[in-house]
Amino acid sequence: MKETEVIFSMERIVVQGGNPLKGCLRINGAKNSAVALLAASALTDAEVVLDNLPEISDVNVMLEILKAIGMNVTRLGQFEWRIAAGKQLSGQTPENLAVKLRASYYFLGSLLAKKGKVNVALPGGCKIGSRPIDQHLKGFQALNVACLLEDGQVKLSTDHLQGGHIFFDMSTVGATINVMLAASMAEGTTIMENAALEPEVIDIANFINAMGGKVKGAGTETIRVTGVKYFGSCTYSCIPDRIEAGTFMLAAAASGGDVTLTNVIPEHLEAVTAKLRESGMEVIPTLDSIRVKSTGRPKAVNIKTLPHPGFPTDLQAPAMAFFGLAEGSSVFNETIYESRFGHAEELNQMGANIKVDGQTAIVQGVKRYRGSFVTAANLRAGACLIIAGLAAEGTTTISGIEHIDRGYDRIVERLQTIGADIKRQEFFSNMSAETIQN
Ligand code: EPU
Repeated sequence: MKETEVIFSMERIVVQGGNPLKGCLRINGAKNSAVALLAASALTDAEVVLDNLPEISDVNVMLEILKAIGMNVTRLGQFEWRIAAGKQLSGQTPENLAVKLRASYYFLGSLLAKKGKVNVALPGGCKIGSRPIDQHLKGFQALNVACLLEDGQVKLSTDHLQGGHIFFDMSTVGATINVMLAASMAEGTTIMENAALEPEVIDIANFINAMGGKVKGAGTETIRVTGVKYFGSCTYSCIPDRIEAGTFMLAAAASGGDVTLTNVIPEHLEAVTAKLRESGMEVIPTLDSIRVKSTGRPKAVNIKTLPHPGFPTDLQAPAMAFFGLAEGSSVFNETIYESRFGHAEELNQMGANIKVDGQTAIVQGVKRYRGSFVTAANLRAGACLIIAGLAAEGTTTISGIEHIDRGYDRIVERLQTIGADIKRQEFFSNMSAETIQN
């Protein structure tokens, strides 16, 4: 070993393919709701209890930020947390935590509402495109807020948060939620047009209302928020994760299995249900469960990612693992992010036949994948590789699994309960001290 090299241990996931998934699995709370609910909990001086929060690293980071800004955070149960305001709330989130995930930007909205002044480092998150925040800033500006980007920080301040009228240039989940948080304590009424329709937006609106807020129209393109002076306490349960559910639906089908997922809202899964049915799979929903039963090799289908209720971009990579095994050729069109096809190269390494051209991928189905060494470059790419590994012949070893842990709660252990041959494995690697610092 060179003097400047350091040996460190990492984990990877090892999947032995070929076991059809069978049985029943409970779906956990939605990552993209949970992270916003946690930021929203800073709005109130009273205490709130949030239930059904998934045990994932993105939630842990949001809890750490809450503690760092002065909130009291207590775990009440596996998925249940009590959040209570401390004596003093800081308007500055720690940079080392904020850069770890996208959702740290929700503290812009909630702390602006609460304190009139907030600094948050530019957010991190999956590297899947440029991901600007211009619509968030445009929304805040409409509420009489001065916005400054300086030293990698977003700095917002106002002496009087005033309701405004915003027309978003595109459907954006993040900006819709963020402006809703800020507007919830502004004077007067804010009207947001071309608001995002995602279930997570409705979940945050319901939580704000449960604390005593006045949000109307969430789930439609026009949301009206009338500001209140104070929020109270409540107990609130996060919605189930439609992306986790969709991932397990595709995994069940790709493995040739028969799996029932419980604690789901089937209406949130209509886009993936439609594509699975179009491919010939059986999908049987009840009030709060959904069963996916493989009928053999799927037929190819075309997929275009769109804002809700269209096919979610977050299921594009998991779906590609499944349709890579279809009979015929599928066309995937990614319209939300400009570089979210990185997983295609890894799938090709496993024997897939995918050609990417800009925002389009032509997926020529192959009969089987072969196990390989692959790397998860982001969260959903990781889920895609697990699905491919479950369906492959032989052993697939996936590194980069810290991305998967950001958004899938104990995915290895839970897949084991429905028959997957999958485990985490520690391995040792060496890296130069210089690389680690960078
Ligand atoms: N956009 C802008 N300007 C903005 C905001 C968004 O140009 O100010 C663009 C984005 O670059 C993107 C599109 O609008 O092209 C949609 O972005 P949106 O704001 O809806 O995405 P987000 O809020 O940053 C959330 C999820 C993503 C999910 C998208 C779309 C969280 C923490 N993240 O991101 O989840 O892909 O909505 O549904 O809620 C994931 O879970 O893997 C993930 C990436």
